[in-house]
Amino acid sequence: MTGPVLAIDQGTSGTKALVVCPERGVLGSGSAPVATRQLPGARAEADPAELYRSVLDAGRQALAAAGEPVAAVGLANQGETVLAWDPATGRPLTDAIVWHDKRADTVCAELAPRAEELRQLTGLPLDAYFAAPKMAWIRRNLTVDGVVTTTDSWLVHRLTGAFVTDAATAGRTQLLDLDRVDWSKDALDAFGLTGERLPRIVDAGCLAGTTTAFGAPLPLTGLLVDQQAALLALRVTDPGTAKCTYGTGAFLLAATGGRPHRSEQGLVSCVAWRLAGRTSYCLDGQVYAAASAVAWLAGLGVLSGAADLDRVGSSVQDTGGVGFVPALAGLAAPWWRGEVRGTLTGLGLDTAPGHLVRALCEGIAAQVAEAADAAARDLGSPLGALRVDGGLTRSALLMQTQADLLQRPVEVSAVPDATALGVAAAARLGLDPALTLDEAVPPWRPATVYEPRISAAEAAERRAEFRAAVDALLDRAPAAS
Ligand code: G3P
Repeated sequence: MTGPVLAIDQGTSGTKALVVCPERGVLGSGSAPVATRQLPGARAEADPAELYRSVLDAGRQALAAAGEPVAAVGLANQGETVLAWDPATGRPLTDAIVWHDKRADTVCAELAPRAEELRQLTGLPLDAYFAAPKMAWIRRNLTVDGVVTTTDSWLVHRLTGAFVTDAATAGRTQLLDLDRVDWSKDALDAFGLTGERLPRIVDAGCLAGTTTAFGAPLPLTGLLVDQQAALLALRVTDPGTAKCTYGTGAFLLAATGGRPHRSEQGLVSCVAWRLAGRTSYCLDGQVYAAASAVAWLAGLGVLSGAADLDRVGSSVQDTGGVGFVPALAGLAAPWWRGEVRGTLTGLGLDTAPGHLVRALCEGIAAQVAEAADAAARDLGSPLGALRVDGGLTRSALLMQTQADLLQRPVEVSAVPDATALGVAAAARLGLDPALTLDEAVPPWRPATVYEPRISAAEAAERRAEFRAAVDALLDRAPAAS
């Protein structure tokens, strides 16, 4: 037995922390918001100092709430958010460029002739979403000093002095050789990053270093990118099982086992985690705007926030003919058109807030369903029930819409913030190498299950309408040069 651990999930809109005990569950929690600056030109930045402060605040709150010591710390991170920093002092040299920032489209456009080579090498389509294009952009436009890394390496350095990243986060850069699980010279060369000092790649359960940031010295033994941490917590380990986390964006990941499976359907093929030197892989499809799209509608006064989705949505029976492709941060898998913007169609003088809310739920759920079907085609067999977590799973309207459009049961996690539970499991595995994954991760028991309530024919019709709306949007938008 390893005792309670402090699990910290540093996400896009905030940091959440849980003290998790293997026997008694969640003993304490904490949270701290972080602001993303949305700038013209589809740019998005965060203040690194605020990210670090939120890690400390949320972690300390959780420890105070638990009121008992922990044996280790685990940290999950946003994945593709990057910054340059001085390894001698830990001082940031740039702001953090957030994962959905599009400024590195220019880097990707230049590299277009090498896109397929890079996809085969790294499993990732060439897109500004990933870390390497942003790293290259920073080197060309902001600074050549210090190191340029994903935020996990900087946060861990601030906490422990170590210079590391976990294999799954490294896999989000487009610099990782997917088969060897090591930095690729060819990919570094393609992005003009040859000679960069890169963090050491560690397992998700590891001994990264020791931190005194939370009081007494504590080993940092769990490191994992957030979506993969949720995958672990929801026990999506058998090939053909899948999960979706509805956070700032929505991310569908399907397990593919011990071998990478290069997608033929436009998905990302990536590392799920490396534990005890053994790598597990997954397929990954992204909806760039989920809770951020809800926040956008709330900003227009349509509803007060995510907790209001069901009240406003249930004021009407259907979408009233409104179509919403909520590509507010562009479209990812399987379209990979990060530069496009969303569309609202079918508006009339009778359009009510509830119609807009329902159309948004439809737009998010339809994109998740597209990603799930793409994963099933890649794997050659239908996926089973979809396991889900994240703040938006509290919306019965969204979850029912998801089950309807997917035509599969949607199983909701009892703890909405499964990411922290996953990194808690990784921290326990790092603390006690004799522990097996089965022992570290509790059996999957959904709190609620949504069964499809519409016919397959109606689901197919609504999905076809959404695809037609996406096609119309793509036809209108000039392809990025
Ligand atoms: O790829 C970015 C993603 O992992 C961010 O997650 O929870 O902040 O939406 P979240």
